Amino acid sequence: MFKQLPNNNLEKVEVILNSQKINVPQGTTVAAMALAQGLRATRTTPISASQRAPFCMMGVCYDCLMVIDGKANQRACATYVKQGMRIETQQGVGPALGEAW
Ligand code: FES
Repeated sequence: MFKQLPNNNLEKVEVILNSQKINVPQGTTVAAMALAQGLRATRTTPISASQRAPFCMMGVCYDCLMVIDGKANQRACATYVKQGMRIETQQGVGPALGEAW
């Protein structure tokens, strides 16, 4: 459904999304990368476990929360990919800081 516009001039960085290595153009937000990868949900809600996905893409709705480099509740739409970044779909409240994930 979502596709990255072709731009071969951008350097790529390698990130790990849900245990899968992916090469992504630098300057891409985590939310844009997740949508382009076909991820249907970036998190589930703590109470009902309903799936949520990026909606506003500008840091307002908080539906894009993900676990990024071990930290839960990171807004994927407000975070740019970095080399070696580890990104996970967040289940409920996500892991506590320092908890294995
Ligand atoms: S998509 Fe709304 S805060 Fe990220």
